[in-house]
Amino acid sequence: MSLLRQVALGVAGLVVLGLSGCANPPGKPGPGPEVVNPDSIADFAVLYKANCAGCHGFDGKGGAAIALGDPVYLAVADDAVLRRVATEGVPGTSMPAFAKSKGGMLTEKQVEIIAHGIREKWAKPDVLRGADPPPYAATTAGNSSRGADVYTIFCASCHGIAGKGGKASSIVNGSFLALMSDQELRTIVIVGRPELGAPDWRGNVPGKSMSAQDVSDVVAWLASQRAQFPGEPYPQTDKSTGGTR
Ligand code: HEC
Ligand code: HEC
Repeated sequence: MSLLRQVALGVAGLVVLGLSGCANPPGKPGPGPEVVNPDSIADFAVLYKANCAGCHGFDGKGGAAIALGDPVYLAVADDAVLRRVATEGVPGTSMPAFAKSKGGMLTEKQVEIIAHGIREKWAKPDVLRGADPPPYAATTAGNSSRGADVYTIFCASCHGIAGKGGKASSIVNGSFLALMSDQELRTIVIVGRPELGAPDWRGNVPGKSMSAQDVSDVVAWLASQRAQFPGEPYPQTDKSTGGTR
């Protein structure tokens, strides 16, 4: 066989291969409507259920994490908060970053659809009826020693002396505090967890709302209870047991 013939046969073979099996191998379904590009999902209900419901609850409440469907929460936290936290997550907690730009799975547009959808579905514009809540983000530094007094006035009736638990659970437990950012503590003090019976800033003591400074101070006090080595089963800096830290 001449070299030319060999090359010609080879080319013919490649053409035959190309025209037959390879484009559509037997048994392999062609592209159909069931193949959805995850980036093209634009339905709020689908996106929320797949990404948020597991922690924040199917109906925006009833999950382990704060109820995003609580209208009081939505009156205190604006769209920028929803968008930013969903985009970046909260480092050091179990709140993941969802935006692709931060290593997540959602496009910027999908984050926007979720943030917008949460508000559209669950916000109630007149829920505060003129009440003026403390600002979402702290504007003044908290004073933890004043915060101890604020705690006694507003919180001890349910969370017990020094936060160690009573009618409601301990909020100074080292592992608990290690899982929550200061902002999350602040958010919960302001909006409560209504689905669990935790009051908002107006409801701890009948007729006595917490001021913005009260909120900052009690959060500073809670933050001062953080354990240096959360999760360790033995006490720290306890001279009576010969501890060395
Ligand atoms: C694996 C559990 C988990 C998933 C999934 C999750 N979250 Fe969170 N989320 C958390 C936790 C825990 C926090 C509190 C973090 C902290 O301590 O600041 C949080 C906090 C938030 C906050 C801030 C609350 C505040 O204090 O203002 C927003 C907003 C939020 N999540 C939105 C979302 C959205 C939107 C989704 C879905 C795209 C989502 N989360 C999915 C666990 C989760
Ligand atoms: C009327 C009772 C009551 C008062 C007063 C109260 N809480 Fe709570 N709180 C609860 C209940 C109930 C829960 C949810 C269930 C639990 O953690 O036991 C809760 C939950 C919390 C949580 C979240 C715990 C979690 O598991 O996510 C924090 C943080 C918290 N409260 C802080 C405070 C602070 C700070 C104050 C005072 C400013 C306060 N609470 C006042 C009843 C109360």
